[in-house]
Amino acid sequence: THQWRGIIEEYRDRLPVTDTTPVVTLREGGTPLVPAQVLSERTGCEVHLKVEGANPTGSFKDRGMTMAITRAKEEGAQAVICASTGNTSASAAAYAVRAGMVCAVLVPQGKIALGKMGQALVYGSRILQVDGNFDDCLNLARALSENYPVALVNSVNPYRIEGQKTASFEIVDALGDAPDIHVLPVGNAGNITAYWKGYTEYAADGVSARKPRMWGFQASGSAPIVRGEVVKDPSTIATAIRIGNPASWTQALAARDDSGGFIDEVTDREILRAYRLLASQEGVFVEPASAASVAGLLKAAEQGKVDPGQRIVCTVTGNGLKDPDWAVAGAPQPVTVPVDASAAAERLGLA
Ligand code: F0G
Repeated sequence: THQWRGIIEEYRDRLPVTDTTPVVTLREGGTPLVPAQVLSERTGCEVHLKVEGANPTGSFKDRGMTMAITRAKEEGAQAVICASTGNTSASAAAYAVRAGMVCAVLVPQGKIALGKMGQALVYGSRILQVDGNFDDCLNLARALSENYPVALVNSVNPYRIEGQKTASFEIVDALGDAPDIHVLPVGNAGNITAYWKGYTEYAADGVSARKPRMWGFQASGSAPIVRGEVVKDPSTIATAIRIGNPASWTQALAARDDSGGFIDEVTDREILRAYRLLASQEGVFVEPASAASVAGLLKAAEQGKVDPGQRIVCTVTGNGLKDPDWAVAGAPQPVTVPVDASAAAERLGLA
């Protein structure tokens, strides 16, 4: 019998580890690549969803975190720190537990989803809510890591990008080649950077014959890359990507331009429409930020930018259970029935 061993063991020869590196893992990666029937029909393409919410802490961050914490452990770090809109902190907290390290997290006050806060708390991290936004938190985390004995595990840490690039490897390994188009939500822009690196490495080594065009989507209220300038007070219901000054801005532009892709924006309304479609039509429950990729694909299709017959992968980055408020909001309240089969049958429309 074979169990998936986690991204470091599965892709050891393509990652910065040696035989003596102490691998810290929760067996992340190996996530489902799910054919999306309704999205395929709507676009005339072959659309797949890379379901990253199936990772151990419920987001793609685990791919980067196994690598970053493994290297921090190897280098003798006893504490790690990160700024986060919630998923990075949940992941860092979990992997720090596995490594026997202290984890400090800085989150924007009142702007992270409850499920993510619960994760950071239950894994026992030291949480500070900062009176500022994510960009302020990242500046603070950087300053602390420069002046105190604590390793920074945000995606400015190159090992994070190394781990996250394995998602591209998995997609090529599953499909036999790279897709024509890869669609991602963009926040701090680490993930689009990492995917492009993965696709580029596989193509350079001849594992894949081609590379996809990279399509990134930011939320309209938090779209600095689209606007070409820092957004001072970013806003969006998709709190995971509420970022006004992405750390990997330059690398995201390179991924966009080198791949012949683009980075556009989607409104909160478009994000929520895609969020509901994914759950109710495809059976895939994601958090709002994750739906930005699918919202973007649908927007591009409506604009006539999607030629039919292409193979497209949309990454959905995080699990819907992290931020269920939007699932419940606006949905009809379930009715209450007595313990009575005929009453229940009637209410269900079966009778
Ligand atoms: N989707 C989700 C669910 C995220 O949590 C993030 C980023 C992104 C997309 C965007 O990815 O930053 O690599 O462009 N979350 C970070 C965090 C900022 O702190 O958890 P990116």
